[in-house]
Amino acid sequence: MIQKIDDILSEAQTDLDAVSSPDQLEQFRIKYLGSKGLTKQMMTWIKDIPKEQKRDFGQKANAARQSIESSFKDKKSNLGASTGPAKSKKPQLDITEPGFKPQLGRKHVITQTVDELLDVFGRMGFDVETGPETEDEYHNFVALNIPEQHPARDPLDNFYLTDPNGENPFLMRSQTSTVQIRTMEKVQPPVRIVSTGRVYRPDEHDATHYSMFHQIEGLYVDKNVTMADLKTTLIQFAHAYWGPDTEIKLVPSYFPFTEPSAELYIKMDFGDGPEWMEVGGCGMVDPAVFKHVGYDPEEWTGFAFGLGIERLAMRKYDIKDIRWLFENDTRFLRQF
Ligand code: DAH
Repeated sequence: MIQKIDDILSEAQTDLDAVSSPDQLEQFRIKYLGSKGLTKQMMTWIKDIPKEQKRDFGQKANAARQSIESSFKDKKSNLGASTGPAKSKKPQLDITEPGFKPQLGRKHVITQTVDELLDVFGRMGFDVETGPETEDEYHNFVALNIPEQHPARDPLDNFYLTDPNGENPFLMRSQTSTVQIRTMEKVQPPVRIVSTGRVYRPDEHDATHYSMFHQIEGLYVDKNVTMADLKTTLIQFAHAYWGPDTEIKLVPSYFPFTEPSAELYIKMDFGDGPEWMEVGGCGMVDPAVFKHVGYDPEEWTGFAFGLGIERLAMRKYDIKDIRWLFENDTRFLRQF
């Protein structure tokens, strides 16, 4: 009987060495340590053992059971470390999956438009000038021949920064025509410049109006400049920027700083078929403006224009609402 205990012990050791999966380990547990397992059966043999050997047998059987139990526990923790459930729960890396594309930034469509406009006018020989967005009344109005009582100077139509009735009030410029004055103050003719930038007006927002927008201002001063030069320049610009079939229309208008004056229109489809949209003003520089900057109006002539950049871009990209340009919705901006 005592020999049988040794046999079970060595058989268990051989079986356990062969175990390599949780399933096999469970089979081992049932065979040796289960409720009908070999160690349980072993204990029942004691009733057949002669009295004087019972004690010896009991000790030996207990030691054998404990040995099998502890070998089983060791095996269990070894298996767990290599193939246990903790490992299988880890997310698997599938290297064949396509990765995520990094989202790249890009230039706002208005910035792209400014670059393109400067490129077109650059090729036509215009230099680039800049001017401040906060202005004094002299550059925004007085030097542009806009007198004190003119409705364009109404505090309700401008963003004044200091008291409009004070000594030298400041305002956010309402037009880039200010840069015409600043340029002519510092250089002698001939002059051929464009200037782009933001302008500010307390307009109600709708599909074609916004309280901040961008303008491109142009100024050409030389001898014998005519209205025909202005019209040719605008037609050439329209064909270069929108394409050779683009139609434009000049409609007589009034600006204090040009005489004669006109408004520039292009066709735009807002959904009900093509209609004329006003994109800016232009004209021959008024002699009163030349006098303010010290140019002799008998010697020099010139034309000027100021166009709304958002509307130019709207026509180019078929954007039917100016407000979309300023909502910063990347789903919209990504298209350009
Ligand atoms: N400054 C005018 C405006 O914002 C546009 C304009 C008209 C500019 C005629 C010009 C010009 O240079 O000659 O409405």
